[in-house]
Amino acid sequence: MKFPLMTSGFLLMVISSVCVDITVRGTEEEHVNITCPYDHGYENSYKYFYKGHYRDNNIILKSYGGESSVFNGRFSLRDDHQTRSFIVTIRNLSMEDAGLYGCVAGWGEYKQIQLNVIKGA
Ligand SMILES: *[C@@H]1O[C@H](CO)[C@@H](O)[C@H](O)[C@H]1NC(C)=O
Ligand SMILES: *[C@@H]1O[C@H](CO)[C@@H](O)[C@H](O)[C@H]1NC(C)=O
Repeated sequence: MKFPLMTSGFLLMVISSVCVDITVRGTEEEHVNITCPYDHGYENSYKYFYKGHYRDNNIILKSYGGESSVFNGRFSLRDDHQTRSFIVTIRNLSMEDAGLYGCVAGWGEYKQIQLNVIKGA
């Protein structure tokens, strides 16, 4: 009777990992770049970067659609209309930064990001 339990546990793992669109790895005390692609037509739309789940609405960075960088402490966001993506940089990573983030452009598709932080040397 152990087998069905293991199978459902495995399926749960698979289902929950499907929610993550982008997985990024960084090293403690270093920086990491997270690339958030967006669809054609969203170049001049608002860009948002969230901590945690989308529904928590915990915005770290917000850009008005221009290409100039926006900053919030160790976090910065740079929008590149040419490649239709915005890059979020997190400097001086700590182990506590690991976890879920999200990015979205305008009313476009929300993308869930998993950030893994590796212990520094
Ligand atoms: C992150 O992006 C910055 C600015 O584009 C670049 O200078 C740096 O090399 C990038 N770092 C990594 C780890 O890709
Ligand atoms: C990096 O963050 C740690 C705390 O997590 C702090 O002690 C250290 O001074 C920071 N380093 C830089 C270069 O900002």
